[in-house]
Amino acid sequence: MTPKFASKSSKAIPVHVVESDRLAALVAKLDIALWVKSNGFTATLGQVLIVPDETGAPVAVLAGWGNADARARGRLQMGTIAAKLPKGNYEIVSGLRGSALDQAHLAWLLAGYAFDRYKVKVGAVARLKASKDVDARRILTEAEGDFLTRDLINTPTNDMGPDALEVEFRNLAKSHDAKVKVIKGDALLKHNFPMIHAVGRASDQVPRLLDMRWGNKNDPLVTLVGKGVCFDTGGLNIKPASSMGLMKKDMGGSATVLGLAHMIMSLGLSVRLRVLVPAVENSISAGAYRPQDVLTSRKGMTVEINNTDAEGRLVLADALAFADEEKPDLLICNATLTGAARVALGPDVPPFFTDDEGLAAQIDHASTAQADPLWRLPFWEPYEADIEPDVADLDNAPKGGFGGAITAALFLRRFVDDAASFVHLDLYGWCPSAKPARTLGGACQSARAMLAVIEARYG
Ligand code: BES
Ligand code: MN
Ligand code: ZN
Repeated sequence: MTPKFASKSSKAIPVHVVESDRLAALVAKLDIALWVKSNGFTATLGQVLIVPDETGAPVAVLAGWGNADARARGRLQMGTIAAKLPKGNYEIVSGLRGSALDQAHLAWLLAGYAFDRYKVKVGAVARLKASKDVDARRILTEAEGDFLTRDLINTPTNDMGPDALEVEFRNLAKSHDAKVKVIKGDALLKHNFPMIHAVGRASDQVPRLLDMRWGNKNDPLVTLVGKGVCFDTGGLNIKPASSMGLMKKDMGGSATVLGLAHMIMSLGLSVRLRVLVPAVENSISAGAYRPQDVLTSRKGMTVEINNTDAEGRLVLADALAFADEEKPDLLICNATLTGAARVALGPDVPPFFTDDEGLAAQIDHASTAQADPLWRLPFWEPYEADIEPDVADLDNAPKGGFGGAITAALFLRRFVDDAASFVHLDLYGWCPSAKPARTLGGACQSARAMLAVIEARYG
């Protein structure tokens, strides 16, 4: 689905955004004291009051904005207000300025998402007419990227296997005049991507590496790598039903890099962009890779498979090594990589890992400014020993499982030497219960923050 603002010429109901302790002044100005009192409207955060004329038609909306403490408990709170309003066109006319006004517009658009691929009818939404004080094109672009990511994650694997993900990848490239190369099936062996092949070969949709390029060759190279495990059964180390239930979302990293790529290309940033997605299904069949198999990676290190469910780091390792060969200025890895990241930080705050202090500070800043929560975890060197087994160079699933998000990140880092800066983000890609501006289901995490980081570095 695509986000929309109401047209510029539409008639819109004015929305007054009001903090609790500014309510009295607004009420006096609009002369609506009785209505406000009889409805018990006190402007707590997310509270909505529709003000009718004498015929009952709405002439204004008061949107409760609470106080700073209440707002600090969530993000993109305007989404709650948008979701409460009846169908119609609205315009924010007072109470917000500057970046808060832009963010309210974004939240409104994000709240209007519905996964409508399999449902004939989805409810009509309250549309926002963009204020002339905001950068409407930019906000719309961010929402488009976010919606693309959500759509890709929400689409079940029967319609979003490696074949369909490749089609989506090509469609995005085509709409931005980007170039695509795809290496598929046994050609992966010929071109030396043995781990992508090993993980994906048990599926009847062949494993593949999707490779997109866009931009001017003199601009700094930014490479995005996204985990594209279209379904993760766990392989022969099969997941229990309770863990497998959500695994259509295991291509969330690739969905996120595509959403981010859309934003970068639409806004025409001055970077040379490359997007790499190893697209596979971690399936079970006679050809499946096994526990205790030893794989030789693209980079040459050998990997002992101690759990076929730790497949993400294997396909990413080959893709990251390939990306790294070109010495990108910035290498970003997005993946629904570990359950441990969720145990550590919960579903809404993805951890990121980087050795670049400057980049870490930029991500920290952008995460807060863009209301796109991220939290740094360390590449904790003393745990390096945990990923070194007896029989091979690397172990894909350290025993004990302590610090699982960190050991997975350390594993990936072994495949990156030459990128000037590297960051890995361990995403959840899913919103387990609806929140302001976020529907239940697929979630686009980190893309807007990383867009701001890329702009700050190269803009
Ligand atoms: N795709 C999963 C990780 C995952 C699970 C992300 C649930 C989000 C929600 C990944 O492939 C996986 O299974 N990781 C294992 C690794 C372990 C076997 C070392 C995990 O985290 O349990
Ligand atoms: Mn897995
Ligand atoms: Zn996985």
